[in-house]
Amino acid sequence: MPPSKTLDVLTPPKRRSTRRGSYISESENAPGKKESIARKAKIEEKDESKVLEKRKGNDLSTTNEDPLCTLAKHMSKINRILNKIHEHVSPKFTASERKKYGITEEYGGITGTLRPKSIERVARALLGAADDKGRALSKEFWLRDNESVFCDIGSGTGRPVFYFAHMRLRACVGFDIDPAQVMNSFHGYQKVKDSLRCPVALFKGDSTKIDSLAPVTHAFAFLGYSSIVKFTSALVARSPSVRVLVAIVLHDAELRENGLLHDDDDDIVRLKGIQMPGGNSYRAVVIPLTTSRKKRVAACTGKKCRRVKGAASDKNSFTEKVLKYTSPKGKAAFDAFVAESIQKQASAPRASRSRRAASNNAKEEKAPER
Ligand SMILES: C[S@@+](CC[C@H](N)C(=O)[O-])C[C@H]1O[C@@H](n2cnc3c(N)ncnc32)[C@H](O)[C@@H]1O
Repeated sequence: MPPSKTLDVLTPPKRRSTRRGSYISESENAPGKKESIARKAKIEEKDESKVLEKRKGNDLSTTNEDPLCTLAKHMSKINRILNKIHEHVSPKFTASERKKYGITEEYGGITGTLRPKSIERVARALLGAADDKGRALSKEFWLRDNESVFCDIGSGTGRPVFYFAHMRLRACVGFDIDPAQVMNSFHGYQKVKDSLRCPVALFKGDSTKIDSLAPVTHAFAFLGYSSIVKFTSALVARSPSVRVLVAIVLHDAELRENGLLHDDDDDIVRLKGIQMPGGNSYRAVVIPLTTSRKKRVAACTGKKCRRVKGAASDKNSFTEKVLKYTSPKGKAAFDAFVAESIQKQASAPRASRSRRAASNNAKEEKAPER
């Protein structure tokens, strides 16, 4: 197979932005390029909100306060709060840490998040707003109050989960393979939990080791490496509860390769100019997971992706965790889990510092006299 273009662009680049580890390629950093990307995104956003204004009958409008009116405000507020927190940048893992945390060679530490405005456009598309070609998600795939479960596959700092939790969904969940990112999301959760309107759960997890995403209905994934695209496609296709996948990608090639897209498709919503704070621009592809599309993905991804080596350890634990933490009495359990994890983290560096100091002392003691 020829090397993937996504891989080329996302492998650690020559230049790196200083903001939350988002990667910027040379061409995107060219003078004037960022401004033109921002201008273009603004025009697209305006066009989309016009289309949305025209849209009649929003399922969520039955609530006292229409969340569409306050969504952008909520997302900016959450973003402002989280920007004040010191976020840990993922360390370069040693071989033994990779083994311990289950980080595969494919995992390249791609971090970074999208602008709240861009995520808001995604949320609106999931509520029926049309894209710039006038295509909108069919009503049966929309997010629904008290029914839909949103999941960010590779949730990083937790922003998309917190943003979507402004809606009165059944739950908003996320998992990430990187323990440092999971801790970032825990610290964020503690700051924003009082502003959230639906149950939230975040935990460590590897998308290549999960059997089923039940009870998730709407999956969101920032897709990078080709193997991750393949495993994510297979995972959503074999999870009967998942109705929609929002894939954030640089181009369509790998979505096509894995059967998620096809030339005959006319039900896909595409949002261009989905941006990171550093200026990197992606597209959001909103894909309804119809039965025929799921079959196509299963055929394209093949048997290899159906059962993953080591999956037994994580088997069903995803569903168990989601149900445990998002049940009516689950908030207290999740809050306790977060507090306990933060407590453990606070004591861990001290322990390692003292271990390091002890070993330095031991070395000094052993150092031969000159
Ligand atoms: C570009 S970041 C996106 C973060 C978040 N979704 C957002 O939009 O703000 C991609 C995340 O995927 C995580 N990731 C990579 N491979 C993964 C895997 N196999 N399972 C779970 N998470 C993974 C990384 O640790 C990283 O935090």
